Amino acid sequence: MECESLVAPLCEGGHRRRPKSRAGALTALVLVPLGIAWVAHGVPPRYHSSMDQLLQRLKDQDLERGMAHPLMLLRFLTCTKSVEEAEEMILNAQAWRREAKVDSIMEEWGERSADGTWKLAPKSQRAEFATGLFAAERLPSDSFGGPVMLGRAVSSDMAGISRESLAPLLQNLWVFMLEDMLQAAHVASVKQRRLVSGATIIDATGISLSIVRYISEYTPWLEIMNNDYPDLVRSVIVINAPSFFVKIWSIVSLLIAPTTREKVQIVGKDFHHVLQKHGVNLDVLPVFLGGSFEGSRLNATLTVPKGATAGLNLSFGGA
Ligand SMILES: *[C@@H]1O[C@H](CO)[C@@H](O)[C@H](O)[C@H]1NC(C)=O
Ligand SMILES: *[C@@H]1O[C@H](CO)[C@@H](O)[C@H](O)[C@H]1NC(C)=O
Repeated sequence: MECESLVAPLCEGGHRRRPKSRAGALTALVLVPLGIAWVAHGVPPRYHSSMDQLLQRLKDQDLERGMAHPLMLLRFLTCTKSVEEAEEMILNAQAWRREAKVDSIMEEWGERSADGTWKLAPKSQRAEFATGLFAAERLPSDSFGGPVMLGRAVSSDMAGISRESLAPLLQNLWVFMLEDMLQAAHVASVKQRRLVSGATIIDATGISLSIVRYISEYTPWLEIMNNDYPDLVRSVIVINAPSFFVKIWSIVSLLIAPTTREKVQIVGKDFHHVLQKHGVNLDVLPVFLGGSFEGSRLNATLTVPKGATAGLNLSFGGA
């Protein structure tokens, strides 16, 4: 189900009421040209009324530039159930971004390209160390121009990460990846003048029921994804899922926002046609998934060395 449809009822039959007061009339004067602006940015007509309301509610807020673009605001609107909820999510996400110093995380872990997208490029010793242990990476865009992320169970040394208490350090990289996905999707949206979202592929090869033991260490990761990153992906495709994956999913799914949960599709070994249907060109997949990309970091388990963290700041957050 499309997340978008959750908001659609808000807009049905939503002709704007005539302003009664002078202040109302002034507001209407300001709002009238907006519909035209929404069209120019690629906001579908069924969201114009909600976008007007959202902007009205946010007009006294000091929104960051990246946050204020119509197609960024629309992203929050399409994954919430009401304008009020979208407003709350935007303000909470912005407060969280400032507190976690997301800009500084991005600078420490990556490089920004001229078009506004990011590239992983660790700048500190701890960033270098964490990158070598992080079991997810970006793949080239899908055929809709959306960013694609690949995660791989067998690459992650969850026991080692737990033993060395590395989840907070790796959380920086998780945020880098989410932000990278968001910015790449946004750049594509602005270019195409429509809301573009990405896709996530999770290769469940090598997964075992023991991961359930470690899930609680990752709840802050899931909370950030649920609360601070709106409508990043169209689809989350779990591939090579063993039959016991349903047990793992019955627990993990409870920790994921419903709007994300309903985008998840779980398939076994016969996954190529499913990925193709979701716009993922098989060529861009790593060799171990039948593609031709040879440079994947996820071709082996990224084993956490014992006691190798001396002198590294293992906490989450930008400097
Ligand atoms: C994984 O890929 C990297 C980069 O291409 C390569 O250097 C390394 O030897 C590969 N490891 C295995 C186990 O295939
Ligand atoms: C570790 O980094 C965090 C921010 O990432 C900072 O707040 C904290 O003071 C640092 N700790 C040390 C011991 O340098």
